[in-house]
This record gives sequence, C-alpha cells and structure tokens, in this order.
Amino acid sequence: MKFHIQTWGCQMNDHDGERLSGLLLNEGFTQVSTSDEADLVLLNTCSIREKAVHKVFSVLGRLREEKQKRDVLIGVTGCLAQQEQAALFRRAPQIDFVLGTMALNQLPRLVEAAKAGKKRVMDTGEYPDNHLFPPEVARRRSTAKALVTIIEGCNHACTYCIVPTTRGVERNRPWQDIVAEVRGVVADGYREVELLGQNVNSFNGGCSFAELLARVSEVEGLEWLRFTTSHPMNFTKELARVLVTNPKVAPFLHLPVQSGSNAVLRRMRREYTVEQYMERLGYLGEGRRKLGLSTDFIVGFPGETDEDFEATMKLLESLKFDSSFSFIYSPRPGTAALRLKDDIPAAVKTERLQRLQKRQLELAKESNLRFVGRTVQARIESHSAARDGFWMGRTGEWKNVHIQTGDGRILPFGELVDVTITMASPQFLGAEIA
Ligand code: 5AD
Ligand code: SF4
Repeated sequence: MKFHIQTWGCQMNDHDGERLSGLLLNEGFTQVSTSDEADLVLLNTCSIREKAVHKVFSVLGRLREEKQKRDVLIGVTGCLAQQEQAALFRRAPQIDFVLGTMALNQLPRLVEAAKAGKKRVMDTGEYPDNHLFPPEVARRRSTAKALVTIIEGCNHACTYCIVPTTRGVERNRPWQDIVAEVRGVVADGYREVELLGQNVNSFNGGCSFAELLARVSEVEGLEWLRFTTSHPMNFTKELARVLVTNPKVAPFLHLPVQSGSNAVLRRMRREYTVEQYMERLGYLGEGRRKLGLSTDFIVGFPGETDEDFEATMKLLESLKFDSSFSFIYSPRPGTAALRLKDDIPAAVKTERLQRLQKRQLELAKESNLRFVGRTVQARIESHSAARDGFWMGRTGEWKNVHIQTGDGRILPFGELVDVTITMASPQFLGAEIA
C-alpha cells in the first residue's frame, strides 16, 4: 500500500509527520510524493489560524472528487483533528479516520480498521506515553537539520491560542532520552539539531532547559544546536548565559512578543509587560548584538487601538528584530478571546499588518547589510531549483544565504562552508565561496 502525507504548520507538526511516516514504513507501506499515486492520504493539519484550516478543507474537497473515482483512504491527523474530533466526519464525510495529536502510536491500528471497511474510525485520546515516542521509528526527511521533540503541550493560557486545546498540558521527555536521540541523529550524519516544544524553555525533564542545552551540546560531532519556541516568562538568566557563551548553541533566538502594548498583552494573557520582555532580552547583555533575533506579532487583537498599534511599531523600531512573523488575529474555537469583541474593521487590520511588515523588511535589510564584506559559516541546505551554480545555506543567526559557485562545483549538503557575503536584501544574503 502506498501512502502520501501532507503536513501543515510548525516544526512540531513536521516532526510528527516524520514519526507517522516511520510508523507506516515499519508496517511495510511505501511513501510516495503525490496524493495521486497514494492508496492512503494522511493530512497532518494545523489549526493555529482560520487560514490554515481553510487549506485543509480545500485539499479535502479535492480528495472527495478523487475518492469518487477510485479507492483511496483519507486520514486526518494533527491539530485540526484534535480540535474538531468527530465533527470532522460531519463536515467532511469523505474522511475515513481521525487521529489526535496525543495518540500518534495508534496510527497503524486506525489504518487497519479503515482498510477493513470500518467507517469513521477515530482516536483522539491522550496517551500518557505519546511524548515518549520511540525515537528510532521517525523517518526524517532529508533536510540539513534534524528535529528532536523535547516537550509537548503548553501550560500557558494565551487567550487567542488554540494550542493548549490541540496539544494538551506539558509532558517532558527525560533528558537522557533526548541526549540519546541526538547521539543517534548525529551518527546518522546530521550536524545540526533543533530541539522542539511549544514552550521549550519550561523544560523540566530531569534538568533545566539551560542544562539540557549544555548536555546536548556535548554530543560529539554535533555542530549547531537550535531550539524553538520560547515563552518570554520562561526565559531565564541561566538560559541567556548558555545561549551567548556555548559555541555549539547557534546564535539565534526566536522570542515571540505578540504586541508592544501592555493593555493588549494583558488581554492576551501573555503574563508579561513590554518592560519585562525587554528585561529578558537584557539578560543577553553584550552577547545580544551577536544573535539573530526574531519574534511574532499579532495585529488587530480585540480592542487594539491606534495607540496600541503605534506602541507595537515603536517596539519594532527600538528592538530591531532581524526578522518577525506577523499575523492578523484569527478567532479560534474554544479560546478565551472569543469573549472579547472582535471590533477592528478588516481594512484597519490589513493596513496595520502591511505597515508592520513593510517596516520589518526595511529593518531586516539594515540588519543584513551589517554582514556584507564578512566571511561567515553557512550550512548548505539545498541547490537552487531555478539557477544552476546557486546554493542555499543558513548562517548560525538563521540568515538565508544564496551562494554562487559558478560552473560545476558541488557544495556538500548539510555541511558548513566558509562564505564571503557580497550583498544584502531584506530576505537573504548573497555570497561567494571564501
Ligand atoms: N491568530 C493570529 N495569530 C496567532 N498566533 C497564534 N494564535 C493566533 C491567532 N489566534 C500566532 C502567534 C504565535 C504564532 C505561532 O502564531 O504570533 O506566536
Ligand atoms: Fe499549528 Fe500550533 Fe498545532 Fe503547530 S502546534 S500545528 S502551529 S496549531
């Protein structure tokens, strides 16, 4: 039987996809790269914003037509599955089974039942060992960096956020298991690892997160260690010290701020003020200047006044993030923010988002210009599909680098190369081999 898996959303979901692939490959299934060739299509979904959900339903619509023409099993996993559960069968009767985010191991059982003709098979239970998923099962895609989950779930309660519903409360993997898994992926040839969790810095699997970074960084052969994502209130001085002093921890921090207005942060229940956020960044001291810093913003949150938004723009200006991801607020089912009136006109939300993104691009270019003329290390991630002799890489600061080699020269996938930066745009650095 051939299966195809389509994944949306964050790295956590990407890695769940790698685990689900491994489960099916172990059952003797073959993975194919398009749904047309597949007997089983698995939609590994995201529900962080309404747009992400639309994408899933649009693919489901296409698959319904496909299913009228031939036998194909359709399974839905991931955050939308956990959120909607049996309601998914009513909205999309073409679905054969629904698998929740805390029951990944149950996939083969569900597929068997669906194959045997059972209708509307579902498991959205919370298996207490889901986070202890056997590491050898995951079949990683051939990317330059390996994803390793360290903590699942989230104990915060941001009023806009669906994640506590879709991913449950925090469950930590023991640090020994994590170190063992990292040893395994390094033995498999990966030189870079990204530790994953909805909130990695509240890690508590037998040591603190800062200590975990230190322990993982000792794995021989590992070159760079990254992590995502962090909550500002769990960002400690100890963690800041490891980040700026440990040479194996890549100089990059993604620390979502969401808004520059204390009134909005309070209604979002982010548990910090703008001042406290800046204090956390202050923990990095002088080392801050060497880091790539990125953040997330939500604009148009209920009650966001012009002054609130100006405060966000002011924060953007003063903190000079290297990059930021910004989104229009999207009301999510079951979240506390639904009780607040979604009162900002759509045109105002769009205008705010565009203003923020435009300024961010200018700031990103300024940040990138600082690299021109410097020789830095970049890890080779891929060859340009569009242009021969062009390679894509990443610096430790998470900057995209387009490297021009000229004719015929092959750069080693997944390895670090020294490059000299020759130009800067808002989205990437141009470089030549040093
Ligand atoms: N609407 C818009 N953006 C959201 N995010 C999370 N929930 C929502 C929502 N309901 C954004 C936050 C978060 C990022 C992953 O997605 O900025 O940090
Ligand atoms: Fe999307 Fe959040 Fe689920 Fe990741 S955890 S897939 S971002 S809803």
